[in-house]
Amino acid sequence: MERIVEIEKMTFENEYETSLRPTSWDDYIGQEKIKRNLKVFIEASRKREECLDHALFFGPPGLGKTTLAYIISNEMQANIKMTAAPMIEKSGDLAAILTNLEEGDILFIDEIHRLSPAIEEILYPAMEDFRLDIIIGSGPAAQTIKIDLPRFTLIGATTRAGMISSPLRDRFGMHFRLQFYDKKELAQIIIRASHKLNKVCLDDGAVEIARRSRGTPRIALRLLKRVRDFADVKDEEKITKKRCSYALEELGVNDLGFDELDLKYLELLIESKGKALGLNTIAAALSEDEGTIEDVIEPYLLANGYIQRTARGRVATTKCYELFRLTPVGGLFEVNT
Ligand code: ADE
Repeated sequence: MERIVEIEKMTFENEYETSLRPTSWDDYIGQEKIKRNLKVFIEASRKREECLDHALFFGPPGLGKTTLAYIISNEMQANIKMTAAPMIEKSGDLAAILTNLEEGDILFIDEIHRLSPAIEEILYPAMEDFRLDIIIGSGPAAQTIKIDLPRFTLIGATTRAGMISSPLRDRFGMHFRLQFYDKKELAQIIIRASHKLNKVCLDDGAVEIARRSRGTPRIALRLLKRVRDFADVKDEEKITKKRCSYALEELGVNDLGFDELDLKYLELLIESKGKALGLNTIAAALSEDEGTIEDVIEPYLLANGYIQRTARGRVATTKCYELFRLTPVGGLFEVNT
């Protein structure tokens, strides 16, 4: 049975009209270093009238990897085709995607660390020499047919820097690691989005949401939309700090932006009384898969110094104990009064 490779084919405008995603550098807040570098690389390739080199983005979910790919396509005035590694199961799936590309297109592959080794093999000559090698038959009678591909830019995104194979990683000419956003940047993103939603969020309200967004625009925008619901129901013209605090409390988002799973994770480490816990133990205790814990929960806790990863496993830091009003004492802890 023929399988249809799901590949979104879209131009920039149609997808974006209803979205809060920024479409240009002027709208894009934060990740300053990445932005500065990309602007140079884009300008240089445009001057040379060449495709941009292949680019790889690493980072936890929700920090804007896809958004950057869209902005690149806009700046390069190129079409972007989106897919994700789990959709590319067979070599024919990738061959179909590659042979349908046009000169200068951008191909975005999300979760690129999940490509199978056989699919990666096909990608190598495509990335290096814009060539598709198709093997027909097997054994001594096998033949390789080489098909020229149009020049294109591959943009890969992954939440797992450590899981991408080095041959694949090495074929990307640019590597960018996205950082968590600070409160000021998130507040700016929230205010800008609130204007687009036709419900202005006041500065102190935006800071209130930003504080609880785990350094992540996707979370900030989700919370903004929910806070707006509360304001709409109360017929309030603008989103105030008071409404933000009330709504966020109702939503169960704690003061530092930790959700239930973060808190359970931290409590588990604290209850282990200084004993390091392995990823598999934590995953089993929280009934979550290890990938979610490594990709979604831990990066923010690590970046903000609440936990440490040691050779023996994960441990809570003093900052974490303080958060729960506890003091670590020689591997044990006592309640602060
Ligand atoms: N929306 C999501 N991410 C954003 C960013 N970095 N800047 C502006 N708006 C955004």
